[in-house]
Amino acid sequence: MNWYLKFIFNSSQVRIQLTETESHFPEILSLLIYDGEMPVDPIQDLTHDHADLNRRALELAGLLQQLQRASGSPRDLLEPLIEFRELLFLHFAREEEGLFPFVSSAVPALEPMIHTMASGHDAICGGLARMIHVATIGGDIATVMGVFERFEQTYAEHARSEASLLASVALALTSEQRHELAALVAGL
Ligand SMILES: [Fe+2]
Ligand SMILES: [Fe+2]
Repeated sequence: MNWYLKFIFNSSQVRIQLTETESHFPEILSLLIYDGEMPVDPIQDLTHDHADLNRRALELAGLLQQLQRASGSPRDLLEPLIEFRELLFLHFAREEEGLFPFVSSAVPALEPMIHTMASGHDAICGGLARMIHVATIGGDIATVMGVFERFEQTYAEHARSEASLLASVALALTSEQRHELAALVAGL
């Protein structure tokens, strides 16, 4: 079966045929499209991180599908999973040590959202840790796929909520605060 993505661009309807991986993981695909609409200033670095992380999540999904089809070993996923984990940990640190405390203090009304974001990080790390464990012990590829499917949902929900948070932050901060935040995030 062929899957297509239809959207309106410059008042014209565009139709793009999706790859098999893209059609199986629409949540991550929707993030790649959404990336283009995210605010770029003052937290440009963070939004760049998101675009890169989302692409890697989709690549991981593709590799996982290939291995499942070829009855491959989850050990082949170990390296890309660890690489993904390191990038995610760095990104989460930039948010939890830079963005989140800054926003909580500058815009207290956003504090409940910040708590939800931090809990989302823990859930994402939990899914990744489980996939890395199964890959390390050479377990069942179907187990990794099961964890990945739940991971995808959590990851996509988190990315969407965070895009909305970043949009609120971008609107709420003064230009002085934007500079201060940019310097803080760049240093992490
Ligand atoms: Fe993020
Ligand atoms: Fe985050």
